Amino acid sequence: MIMEKIVSLCKRRGFIFSSSQIYGGLSSIWDYGPLGVELKRNIKNLWWKDLVHQRSDIEGLDAAVLMHPKVWEASGHLKNFSDLLMDCRECKKRFRIEDVAAQPPITNYQPPKCPECGGELTKPRQFNLMFKTSRGLFLRPETAQGIFVNFRNICQTLHLKLPFGIAQIGKAFRNEITTGNFTFRSREFEQMEIEYFVQPAEAQKWYEYWVNERFNWYIKLGIKKENLRVREHSKEELAHYARQCSDIEYNFSFFTKGARLPSVGQGPTSGRGWKELEGIANRQDFDLIQHQRFSGEDLNYEGVVPYIIEPSGGVDRTLLALLVDAYYEEEVKGRKRVVLRLNKDLAPIKIAVLPLLRNRPEIVKIAKRIRDELLPHFITKYDDTASIGKLYRRQDEIGTPYCITVDVQSLDDKKVTARERDTMRQERIAMSKLREYMGEKLK
Ligand code: GAP
Repeated sequence: MIMEKIVSLCKRRGFIFSSSQIYGGLSSIWDYGPLGVELKRNIKNLWWKDLVHQRSDIEGLDAAVLMHPKVWEASGHLKNFSDLLMDCRECKKRFRIEDVAAQPPITNYQPPKCPECGGELTKPRQFNLMFKTSRGLFLRPETAQGIFVNFRNICQTLHLKLPFGIAQIGKAFRNEITTGNFTFRSREFEQMEIEYFVQPAEAQKWYEYWVNERFNWYIKLGIKKENLRVREHSKEELAHYARQCSDIEYNFSFFTKGARLPSVGQGPTSGRGWKELEGIANRQDFDLIQHQRFSGEDLNYEGVVPYIIEPSGGVDRTLLALLVDAYYEEEVKGRKRVVLRLNKDLAPIKIAVLPLLRNRPEIVKIAKRIRDELLPHFITKYDDTASIGKLYRRQDEIGTPYCITVDVQSLDDKKVTARERDTMRQERIAMSKLREYMGEKLK
């Protein structure tokens, strides 16, 4: 099963560990190891660069996780932020309503059966997702509210003109009841959110603009287009604040039980398994009006209470989709090769420097010197803890785009072998030209 392979790779190679593992772990809470933290940072940095640094209409913010309890009353989260869940009377498992098989038409309606054991399910019940602390405060379930309560501060300090956006990346917490699917639905996770403030009459135009922009951003990350789709919410599905919402979904179908791995260049087979990576919502003036009412502060700007278009994505889900999308198994000279074909900009390590013979001090010395020379320019690691074949396999598995090997011949010709991850093509490069060569390749 691919899910197990990804989980095992993440643990074995240091991408993701279960939290507090030595105490038996904590359900649906995860720690990112040395490679995971790099991949996560690369995703967040790219988002920030594309949406804040390279645009003139979006500014950044970093608000606190804990907020005044009134915020959650005003935002409607205390009342409305819940999931509809059903329990199986036989196996006692709990399911979100959308994870129970699609229902037949109302004329020959049958109550849904448990997707695991076929048993009878209870009627759906509401479970509030807010995380309460012992001090009576709530951990934020979305970063968005930190932006709304700072709306006036930012308008007053920067004198921005509508339309403009405020961006934030930060932790969010939800008391998720149904768990599983690795990090997909965690209790603690990170969001990347933009609240884009617009004239009400222009809300539709900006909503369509952002659905399109955000879809293309995931393609830019390197996720295959055929594994992405946009799905518009039905009226019943809409959050209490939204007039319209579209999800950008990733096809996690080969992440599910019994699914087969795709071969190179072929996407996963179709089927169930489309799941949300990001939602783009038209939140109207709901939040600003509510905060105006509860706080008594005037949140009019340029003569209106602006409408808000909100692209809201998850760092953890993006990371998971990237791993699933990039994971390949192939046969090379009768042996299995696992390779993560990650976008080079996102790969946690860019270059691995490997000595062909670790018991030859002259070779080791050159390899370490090359590592030190490349280190200020590229994320570079030296490894001599196994045979060269094993070292290559290790780097392929974590998505390192280039390996540089120093061998006996290097002592004479002052050249090294550069090996490319995806094609496994090897090239001899003069040591003196290595930095330039890598700069070209990793541009
Ligand atoms: N401010 C709007 C909002 O929070 P959402 O659709 O509930 O909307 C936005 O969440 C994104 O946050 C989702 O598309 C998903 O990527 C991520 N997300 C939500 N709940 C999550 C969870 N329990 N675990 C991991 N990521 C989650």
